[in-house]
Amino acid sequence: MEQAIGNKRTLEVCFSPILYPYKLIDKDYVVIIVDVLRATSTICTALDNGAKAVIPVAKVEDLKQYQGNGYIIAGEREGLKLKEADLGNSPFNFTREKVEGKTIVITTTNGTQAVEIAKGADDIIIGSFLNLNAIGNWITEQDKNVIILCAGWKNKFNLEDTLFAGALVEYLSDSLNFHFNLSCDSAIAALDLWTIAKEDLLDYVEKTSHRHRLKKMILDDVIEYCFTPNVTQVIPAFKNGKFVDIAENKIYK
Ligand code: MLT
Repeated sequence: MEQAIGNKRTLEVCFSPILYPYKLIDKDYVVIIVDVLRATSTICTALDNGAKAVIPVAKVEDLKQYQGNGYIIAGEREGLKLKEADLGNSPFNFTREKVEGKTIVITTTNGTQAVEIAKGADDIIIGSFLNLNAIGNWITEQDKNVIILCAGWKNKFNLEDTLFAGALVEYLSDSLNFHFNLSCDSAIAALDLWTIAKEDLLDYVEKTSHRHRLKKMILDDVIEYCFTPNVTQVIPAFKNGKFVDIAENKIYK
């Protein structure tokens, strides 16, 4: 059994960007950004399919500077593809044929906004069910406090990001070499919700409002995929304004 690293660290879930305690976040924190439907599932898929990097931008206007310069421009508002963009925000758009070797610039309603507010943290990592264990393992190697930041929907709580947070809390609780303090109510609440939902995850997901929003727009073909754990080992980390995959000695080690 490996020894614990350092002192006990905190593990918290921030249920909405509006609750993010940005003034308290310093260089001792890892922030895991989560937007299961669909931004963070999409970023994981793009990097898994060989994209070189993903640049998140908060505003639609910020896309302009990248247009016509060899970037793939991606983005949505309210779920719908932007007219300024080559691709929308479905992970299925980001096939190997389209993205391998390319840098993608993306803006989304909630996911890239959450990245924006987390920029003061030491490490910003993209989390989704698709790379759950990969980032869980990576976190256990760090000696840092962890905040799982749920992108939610326009600053509102959402179920799907909270479920992912609970799954990650569960994974970290089971890990032997990561000593964190599981006394934060937010982590306990997320874990409890996950414990209820995981019995029949896709059935539970039927309750989520974004699932119905996507269904109305006929964009809900991604649901099963976005809730499938461990499809990829990518660890998208924010380095010099871009998300790059730091897994498998690519950059990080
Ligand atoms: C977001 O970042 O707001 C979401 O990914 C919205 C979407 O489903 O495209």
